[in-house]
Amino acid sequence: MEKGLEILLGQREKEGTLRSTSTVEPEKGGYISVSGKRYINLSSNDYLGLSSHEEIIKATRLDQNGIFGTASSRLMAGSTVLHCELESKTAIFKNKPSALVYNTGYQANIGVISSLFGPGDVIFSDRLNHASIVDGITLSGARFFRFRHNDMEHLETLVMKNRNKYKKALIVTETVFSMDGDTAPLQEITSIKNRHDCVVMIDEAHATGIFGATGSGMAEKLGVTGDCDIIMGTYSKALGGYGAYVAVSGVVREYLINTSRSFIYSTSLPGIVINADIVALDLIRNEPSRRHVLVSNAGYLRDKLKSVGIEAKGGTQIIPVVVKDSAKALRISEKLRENGYWGTAIRPPTVPENTSRIRISVTYNHTKEMLGDLAQILYDEMCR
Ligand SMILES: Cc1ncc(COP(=O)(O)O)c(C=O)c1O
Repeated sequence: MEKGLEILLGQREKEGTLRSTSTVEPEKGGYISVSGKRYINLSSNDYLGLSSHEEIIKATRLDQNGIFGTASSRLMAGSTVLHCELESKTAIFKNKPSALVYNTGYQANIGVISSLFGPGDVIFSDRLNHASIVDGITLSGARFFRFRHNDMEHLETLVMKNRNKYKKALIVTETVFSMDGDTAPLQEITSIKNRHDCVVMIDEAHATGIFGATGSGMAEKLGVTGDCDIIMGTYSKALGGYGAYVAVSGVVREYLINTSRSFIYSTSLPGIVINADIVALDLIRNEPSRRHVLVSNAGYLRDKLKSVGIEAKGGTQIIPVVVKDSAKALRISEKLRENGYWGTAIRPPTVPENTSRIRISVTYNHTKEMLGDLAQILYDEMCR
């Protein structure tokens, strides 16, 4: 087997798409250390800097009768008081009747979609949706149509042509796209849903904690929470913690508890992780200035990029600098490192062919001084 795998890896290396992990040491204040060198971290989803917030760190020191792991799934003996408290708080935060915690966003997406939809149903999914959504759809066995990214005409055409041939129909989208930083037209999506009797599921992984009056997410900002039947999100990005949730009706929650395999057959998260997530929800409410600083930092970098002639797509904290060619993306990433920035090259199959990019995540911890030289460095290297 190894011989064949070596050949496949060699092919990836030639194409500039070979992946590898780097051994890093995270540091406070928006930095990261790699092999003893300190970089400004442009590749972290710790958008609000909460992962090092003293209240979160304090929350992880909780002494739960001297016990760390739950050593049990939720349905056995792993549904602790803290798990239930997090779910109650999440339901309020998302303005939904109930919520269910999953161990990761990946598990939430595959577990929710494959439990609620199956053969005989149809799913319409944005072409740029996250791999966990795609894997959930594949696992479900439902008929699957991809609509062009954020293209509502294409979505409605597909829905009109196919909806009636199937039992349940799902439209699923990210709200802030993880690799493009742009946002889904949720008002149009929910009106298509209402016109054609579909269910809408949104993935708020990159919106939770940031958008909307209370930081609940894009559904809150656009006033469509009531029309989004299934709202999924994570505690692992802006909330600086770990795990994921789905906010739904009471009946859907109960059905998921009974049928969602990634929920049922997995040990529940340790209480200290859950406790940190609870504190993070409190911080989103109590420290709104963090998201205002984040928005201002992202706007600053976007303006800087525009001023040197780099198209800064999206309108969020995720700013992709698309260079198309994978080898060029790797070269720019290397140049950033030489200049003290850690910005990884994102290449196919994570993004579509010919759209390799440097994905910049702006965070609360970045200062204008930290971001000041970035646009010019990128521009100089892109022009080479
Ligand atoms: C849009 C989106 N959904 C789901 C996930 C998965 O979340 P987790 O990292 O908690 O598994 C991610 C993570 O990168 C994501 O970007």
